[in-house]
Amino acid sequence: MKKVLLVGGGGREHAIAYAVSKSKQEHELYSLMSKKNPGIAGLCKEYFIDDENNANQVARYAKTLGVDIAIIGPETPLQNGVVDALERVGVSSVGPKQEVAKLEFDKAWTRKFMQEYNIGGLPEFKVFSPGEDEEIRNYINELGDVAVKPAGLTGGKGVKVMGDQLQDIDAAKLYAIELLKNDVVVIEENLKGEEVTLQAFVDGKNLAYAPCVQDHKRADEGDLGPNTGGMGSYNDAGHLLPFMNEEDYEEAKQIMKDVVARVKEETGVGYRGILYGQFILTANGIRVIEFNARFGDPEAMNVLPLLETDFLDVCDAIVNGTLGSLDVRFSNKATVCKYAVPEGYPENPIKDASIQIGDVGDALLFYSGVYKKGGVVYTTGSRAVATVGLADTLFEAEQIAEEGISSIIGPLKHRPDIGKPELIQKRADHMNVLRRTC
Ligand code: AMP
Ligand code: GLY
Repeated sequence: MKKVLLVGGGGREHAIAYAVSKSKQEHELYSLMSKKNPGIAGLCKEYFIDDENNANQVARYAKTLGVDIAIIGPETPLQNGVVDALERVGVSSVGPKQEVAKLEFDKAWTRKFMQEYNIGGLPEFKVFSPGEDEEIRNYINELGDVAVKPAGLTGGKGVKVMGDQLQDIDAAKLYAIELLKNDVVVIEENLKGEEVTLQAFVDGKNLAYAPCVQDHKRADEGDLGPNTGGMGSYNDAGHLLPFMNEEDYEEAKQIMKDVVARVKEETGVGYRGILYGQFILTANGIRVIEFNARFGDPEAMNVLPLLETDFLDVCDAIVNGTLGSLDVRFSNKATVCKYAVPEGYPENPIKDASIQIGDVGDALLFYSGVYKKGGVVYTTGSRAVATVGLADTLFEAEQIAEEGISSIIGPLKHRPDIGKPELIQKRADHMNVLRRTC
């Protein structure tokens, strides 16, 4: 009997629990999460509500339970060294050690690493430390159009881009100098194009890639409103997005492969777990926006339901370094994932409001930022629940997801446009214009 510990309690972790629950391996799933996610709780033998970010505490749970393998969902425990702590108590993890998880949590280190090893997809950038106000102003003037990024983790909400959250160059300078008081800041050229997420299982050396997905960061329809953790996402049948070509895909894969090889060379530590590459296809080719050391949320909800290979076999191969000899397959279907979020999200979300989940039809339902009390489901203020439609075509998948989400009642909102033909066409037209101008 294999004992599996899942760390984390969001939609991504519910999708992981779902993938574990489909495994043919005899197993028991345990979960450690900071709030009771009813979806995860329903899939495990036992769950514990505790601080999932405390690395030593997670390791104590793992040791007491005698687990064979831990799967780490979110980034904060990785940043806090949970994989290293688990290794000290003899537990293998699906997740990278702290030393290499910094590919996600230290954007300044990652950019310098990419530069040093000549890894493809690097935008123009410079890193600034507190006190370098004059230098940062000069560099923003030099680039003219920039993205301003705090070096550390910000839950996808600290990055601000000119023309979006920053009105003009003066606003960019003000924001950069404000951030510089407390953090190292990365200034990058403002990349224009279409974003692509590529996620891969990694065993220290080999990578097995999931189909490409596109997330929607903006809160409101038509890509308006503030940035969020992600309002929903889709993939097309096959591994490409509708506006991508094979060449883009090969380049993205090569960049991820180089990162895995070079990070071992640089740190001596093999990267094991999930590597998430966020790319942008521009007029001048593919560029890297960032790497994450975990599945995306919502992107995990697209790819894990498509996984045909037994997920626990994949986890074993990740920790044993045998991914190269495992045939990792995804079914050739499209998915659309839509998040229902509290009204007012992300700035003033309604918290502790009760919601009712009706019949979601053919959609899969994943719980995220909710908790259950006395049989009633309440919002926490974060993204609440997601539905996923899975079908032969994007068109059908979108309808399934949309029908599912309309059965969820409460002070919630979602983006009906995600996965709709009009929005997909807009993306393709945008990419065509960019490619024509290069
Ligand atoms: P991140 O937290 O790095 O994922 O950034 C959040 C969002 O900011 C991304 O999804 C992009 O939409 C945008 N972004 C980040 N870096 C850049 C860049 N160099 N140029 C344009 N947009 C960017
Ligand atoms: N969906 C974006 C992320 O997980 O970082």
